[in-house]
Amino acid sequence: MKVGVVGLGAMGAGIAQLSVEAGFDTVGREVSMELAETARDRISHFLTRKVEKGQLGQPERDAAVARLALTTGLDDLAGCDLVIEAIVEELSPKQELFAEFERICRPDAVLATNTSALSVTEIASAIASPERVVGMHFFNPAPLMRLVEIIRAELTSDAAFDAAFAFAEKLGKHPIRCYDTPGFVVNRVLIPLLNDCIRVLDESRVTPEDLDAGMKFGAGWPMGPCELVDLVGIDVHVHASEALYEKTKEPRMAAPPRLVAMRNAGLLGRKSGRGFYTY
Ligand code: 3HC
Repeated sequence: MKVGVVGLGAMGAGIAQLSVEAGFDTVGREVSMELAETARDRISHFLTRKVEKGQLGQPERDAAVARLALTTGLDDLAGCDLVIEAIVEELSPKQELFAEFERICRPDAVLATNTSALSVTEIASAIASPERVVGMHFFNPAPLMRLVEIIRAELTSDAAFDAAFAFAEKLGKHPIRCYDTPGFVVNRVLIPLLNDCIRVLDESRVTPEDLDAGMKFGAGWPMGPCELVDLVGIDVHVHASEALYEKTKEPRMAAPPRLVAMRNAGLLGRKSGRGFYTY
């Protein structure tokens, strides 16, 4: 089985890492070779750490890295059985990309999107064979988080859904079956919950450090809400909140003004070096 991953940012690189570790030849596509190589360096780094910690053999690590072929050309996806899209969270670029997949990929190839807040059905509506489009929503950081939401859009075939579900299992993940409702399952709960946490910062005058300690040590969260929003990316979180608010009109979905201001100021969390914390 051959896998394509399109978009090698934090999520795409994590998905490509899982794919090569699980033994699949994987084509990773970015818009420039420089970005593609940055992703390969990131993957190599995390696999090397696994070797250093005795979780992976050196030959297995080298074989995994060798299974990743980098490209900037979409035509290299032609031989893939499954293509997973992980590009920018905007509808039009995703729809244009799926139209390209349809032109390039075999008719039986499954086309998956890692969208977290857009509608899989709307993405699929851009192509003539929407039955082979399915959602595969990984969580950040993809190599560490066990869940993958497998999303059945309105016209997804059983074959495409089952193939995506089986692939997630082969990656060692715990897939769950979801429908194409706003935020699917986890973000439907998590986005408003994190927004509540950020509003509490303003209401209760607690510090981010104390709020994080509160939720870690008082509620058993693995990471505090401010650390988590920094990890996810404040721009990504605000965008997901806006998309869910747009669909549900529930006030809790709306991004708190504090997060919007941080996003506008370029305080994006870990990836920009500053968010609630400095990295
Ligand atoms: N990719 C690959 N490997 C990674 C990695 C990454 N991004 N980050 C860390 N690792 C590897 C590292 O090699 C690290 O070991 P090292 O530090 O010795 O090199 C190893 O994983 C273990 O990392 P940690 O010691 O940091 O692991 P922890 O035990 O502290 O757990 C965690 C980290 C799993 C992230 C845990 O803190 C956690 O579960 N946090 C909550 C994360 C969460 O809720 N994510 C969901 C976000 S919502 C989302 O994604 C939805 C989206 O649509 C917005």
